[in-house]
Amino acid sequence: MKKYLIALMMVLAPMTASAAGGAAVPLDSIDIDLTDKASLQRGMAAFVNRCMGCHSAQFQRFERAATDLEIPADLVEEYLIFDNDKKIGEQMTIAMAKEDATNWFGNPPPDLTLESRLRGPDWVYTYLRSFYKDEARPWGVNNVVFPDVGMPNVLEDLQGTVINHCTPEELHAGHETKVDPLTGERIGGCFSVEPETGSMTEEEFDQYVYDLVNFMAYMGEPSAMVSGKIGTYVLIFLAILFVFAYALKKEYWKDVH
Ligand code: HEC
Repeated sequence: MKKYLIALMMVLAPMTASAAGGAAVPLDSIDIDLTDKASLQRGMAAFVNRCMGCHSAQFQRFERAATDLEIPADLVEEYLIFDNDKKIGEQMTIAMAKEDATNWFGNPPPDLTLESRLRGPDWVYTYLRSFYKDEARPWGVNNVVFPDVGMPNVLEDLQGTVINHCTPEELHAGHETKVDPLTGERIGGCFSVEPETGSMTEEEFDQYVYDLVNFMAYMGEPSAMVSGKIGTYVLIFLAILFVFAYALKKEYWKDVH
């Protein structure tokens, strides 16, 4: 028994190590839902409009996404593919050259197809919501989970300009804004949004980023959508099989006293 326990601990050890590795800043959690087609569709529209200026998703084809997300192909061609020479069967690549991007941003924007598997959906969700104003940086913004990031805050017109009130140490302890539910005033946390700078409320913006990250989680593992369904079918099959197996058992044992 002891041996098994030790073996189990050794198996689990790397899991706890990797969980602790990325936990420098507490992350907000996101509950991915690949059955929410409307969210995934909005997420794809947001991704194509807001991210594909700089980031490719070269392992994802437009057509596969259209099929999985139940968006009619002609709508994808008309509204989600901006390059006229691109066909729906092609990958979601972009025209920006890596060398140019490196000159402009310091680091090239990485391909995002597998990003949510690389960093985890929680990280991406927190990252996109934790840009804040920092005049010392080239783009005028910094990020809590990715300090000194080379990416501008491309969602600032939606979220608004975020002002940080904390020291770097406090910021790393927890960046969430706390608002008094009665007065709507900021009562704690590090962030406040400058009034009139964003077109969305905090809830709308969180939903927008939720949809975006939901789509990125889908891209990271498109087969998860199908395997979830297969799992359901297998369970239904087992339930039906149980009825017959039970009837057969009764039949066999009927004469045994
Ligand atoms: C103006 C160009 C630009 C746009 C538009 C843009 N990004 Fe970025 N992004 C960058 C650059 C540059 C980096 C690399 C930053 C670095 O390494 O310092 C980056 C990095 C990232 C990273 C971190 C990658 C990693 O793991 O190192 C994520 C995640 C990301 N971007 C997501 C997005 C999403 C989602 C959108 C759309 C809402 C988006 N980006 C739009 C330029 C852009």
